[in-house]
Amino acid sequence: MKGGLTRRTVVASGLLALIVGAAFATLLFTVAELREAERRASQSQEVLVVANRLERLIVDAETGLRGFVITEQPNFLEPWHAAHAAFPEQAATLERLVADNPDQQARAQRIVQAAESYHQDYAVPLVESAQRDPASARTVAATEAGKRRLDAIRAEFDRFVATEDDLAAGRQAHSDAVTNRAVAAAAAGLAGSVLLIVLFAAYLNRAIVSPVRLAASMAGRLADGDLGVRLPEGGRGEIGVLERSFNTMAGSLQESRVQLTRSRARIVAAADQARRRIERDLHDGTQQRLVSLVLNLRAARAALPAEPAEPRRQLAEIADELASATDDLRVLSRGIHPASLSEGGLRPALTALARRSAVPVELDVDVPARLPEPVEVAAFYVVSEALTNVAKHARAASAHVELRVSTDGLHLSVRDDGVGGAVPRPGSGLIGLIDRVEALGGTISVTSWTGQGTALAADLPVSGQDSS
Ligand SMILES: Nc1ncnc2c1ncn2[C@@H]1O[C@H](COP(=O)(O)OP(=O)(O)OP(=O)(O)O)[C@@H](O)[C@H]1O
Ligand SMILES: [Mg+2]
Repeated sequence: MKGGLTRRTVVASGLLALIVGAAFATLLFTVAELREAERRASQSQEVLVVANRLERLIVDAETGLRGFVITEQPNFLEPWHAAHAAFPEQAATLERLVADNPDQQARAQRIVQAAESYHQDYAVPLVESAQRDPASARTVAATEAGKRRLDAIRAEFDRFVATEDDLAAGRQAHSDAVTNRAVAAAAAGLAGSVLLIVLFAAYLNRAIVSPVRLAASMAGRLADGDLGVRLPEGGRGEIGVLERSFNTMAGSLQESRVQLTRSRARIVAAADQARRRIERDLHDGTQQRLVSLVLNLRAARAALPAEPAEPRRQLAEIADELASATDDLRVLSRGIHPASLSEGGLRPALTALARRSAVPVELDVDVPARLPEPVEVAAFYVVSEALTNVAKHARAASAHVELRVSTDGLHLSVRDDGVGGAVPRPGSGLIGLIDRVEALGGTISVTSWTGQGTALAADLPVSGQDSS
């Protein structure tokens, strides 16, 4: 997928690795440079030490030579011999150390040549002549010649050392500059890497973690029944797909719930209408016919002669039975759909219900105006079923029915002081009430602890209910 998560993560990780790698490569390069600068600085120190040692050898040789010439003691020649023996190695070391600097190399060669010449052309002949004729070796001329040669060698040494000192100072300055650069590169590399990693983490958080966390929390709300939740769209790649799919899914779930609620309401309304029609048919048709039959029977009985008494008694009995059956039918049709509810509203219908209840009922109805018919019918059936349950199951001393209207809708409760333990079962009356109330968008709850009575509470929205 173009701009997909995998591609973006790979690109971002690659970029991070490249930049961090470049920072560390720069650091490594600077460290190598630093090591080279330090090596060169310490090489200068070594050159100075060797040059110093070489000069001391020449001075030692001259001192031994002078001592021998003056005292004629052969033991003064020992340092002269020792210096001569040690000279070649030190000279070679010095020449090797300055091999990378042609100027210094030339100076070192001049020093070595001058020292060798001093030895060959001056010192050795002087020792030989001192051994033959000590007085000849002590002449001012001979001493002056040796002093000149030595001064020349020393002057060359001075130039060599001064140049090397300059070089050493320059190399030290370079080494210090490289050290500073290395420290700066390390600090910049470290700070840059930390910054990049933080930026990368922030990017991952913004592009992936936050949207996924939001989607998880919205999915939780959706699972809890809040079908109105939507994710802000605008994410890229798979995150965008996730957001759009989530919103589509939530939208269709919400639509399905709306459809389901509407169809439940239609089913309940259709059932109520059918019940009302049956009640009317019974009331206007069958009940009226039965009543006129009773009247006809009583008229027929009155028309019969007093004797014999038996037919009159039988007709009276049939008329009474028929009247009683008519009363039963009236009660039955009132249960199917109470005509008093359609005519007078909740208060008279509930008053009649409470009066008929086997358990004493305290009725507290605060419903100032008529409510939409579906709400009135639902409220009536909730109270009716609850009171029937109290009579059937609760073994209660009394029940309390309360109805209140607020801006939210109608709130009703039915409480009893019976044995408790009410549990809605599939297909039973309480489940039917839940269906009826939820079909209107309301809620219903049953609280019933064993030994502590039962409380049934329902909230029914009033606005938006179709009265037809
Ligand atoms: N007020 C109450 N007090 C004690 N138990 C109750 C009460 N109301 C209901 N119950 C218990 O809860 C069960 C479920 O009640 P529900 O009204 O759903 O069914 P039902 O009354 O048994 O049958 P139906 O209502 O279909 O005639 C009842 O069987 C009863 O055991
Ligand atoms: Mg019941």
